[in-house]
Amino acid sequence: SKRRILVCGGGNGAHCLSTLAASQKKSEVHVLTLFQDEAERWTKLLEDSDVKLTVTDLDGSQREIFAKPNLVTKDSEIAMSGVQIIFLVVPAFAHEQYFKAIEPHLQQNTLIVGLPGQAGFEFQCRSILGDKANTCTIASLESLPWACRILEFGKHAQILGAKDSLGISYIKGKSCTLPFPIVESIQDIIGTKPKIEEIQNYIAINLMAKSMVHPPILYGKWRDWDEKPLQEEPLFYQGIDERQADLLSQVSDELIATGKRLEQVKEGIDMSQVMHIYDWYKTYYKDQITDKSCLMKAMKTNSAYDGLVHPMIKTEDGYVPNFNYRYTTEDIPFGLVVMKGIAEIAGLDTPVMDEIILWAQKKLDKEYIPNHACKTNRLTEGKTIFRMERVISPINCIEHPKLLLS
Ligand code: NAI
Repeated sequence: SKRRILVCGGGNGAHCLSTLAASQKKSEVHVLTLFQDEAERWTKLLEDSDVKLTVTDLDGSQREIFAKPNLVTKDSEIAMSGVQIIFLVVPAFAHEQYFKAIEPHLQQNTLIVGLPGQAGFEFQCRSILGDKANTCTIASLESLPWACRILEFGKHAQILGAKDSLGISYIKGKSCTLPFPIVESIQDIIGTKPKIEEIQNYIAINLMAKSMVHPPILYGKWRDWDEKPLQEEPLFYQGIDERQADLLSQVSDELIATGKRLEQVKEGIDMSQVMHIYDWYKTYYKDQITDKSCLMKAMKTNSAYDGLVHPMIKTEDGYVPNFNYRYTTEDIPFGLVVMKGIAEIAGLDTPVMDEIILWAQKKLDKEYIPNHACKTNRLTEGKTIFRMERVISPINCIEHPKLLLS
């Protein structure tokens, strides 16, 4: 029998996932995109053609897939009809809107997948779905399975190389019985690469979210910037210096320490999968990195990062940094702030993360940590109460997902 899948979003990842899934005979694919007139535009483009998906494999060979979703719509009721698996494939700031749109139409025993989840995904999902969260399963993948992009909206997208493996965690609702296996079904939809690996605890996934990478690199690069425009766009990863690598490494240390502390405060949870970012690079990009001797060199010599530059704005005098790019707009509120919140609940100070959040929030004109905080920084309540709730509520019942089953 066919399985019906809903892909939420209309961007790079949504194009690729919906086309891949639609190319499989056993899948029926709906796309829900709430953004502007995307649904209408895409529907029109699909009237007389398929989407072309160009897949570049790691060995450089290319193949093309032609397929199209059964339906692209802005109407969440139509989109949700008969759906068994829902993928959210949008930047984290758009998650809330989709959770609210799907909630009224959610059937029991549905699998909701954050692709990627980003830090805080489960917290936000559970708080918006309320009691319904207990009837479904919420899964979160660490990242998108591939680097990918739209070449022509609604018509042509490209997958530029899959990662080797990708972590997933899930929370199965108390009264949820999925009629299909979780990991195998997702693997089946995305193809053989990357290999999806189960991580036992969703808090571990939150502490390993790759949103931790960008802010320390930005902070290290721009905290002492003299405001003079640059003549070239600096390389983001491959231009990293020792100071930036050090900051990144220290943030990673704080996250590992948070995991260890949680193991102490709550018996029976296993956070051993929270690994250091340096180890993560060595594992996940093992074929792309030529010098693995330290974190800085590993990043400088990672061919997956060839040519990637800092987010910059072009002015008449040259380039200036864009502090309102997703490396901050997403990776602070749906990244470091959530991680900091988990650390706070675990009772651990995180001076390096705090320093970075304090710097970034000024650029974003937000206040996650009070600007005049004294020695122990705590997340601001009041203004950011929703975020605090997101962080706190599920942690009060921090549990091994497997334990939730019983
Ligand atoms: P994208 O940048 O293509 O997403 C744009 C789409 O998001 C739009 O087409 C629209 O559907 C929606 N959107 C944009 N602004 C919105 C708004 N104000 N309100 C509601 N919806 C809005 O995203 P992409 O590239 O598909 O990435 C999805 C996630 O995966 C992001 O979190 C990204 O950081 C992550 N990621 C992306 C990679 C890539 O190669 N594209 C690689 C690794 C991770």
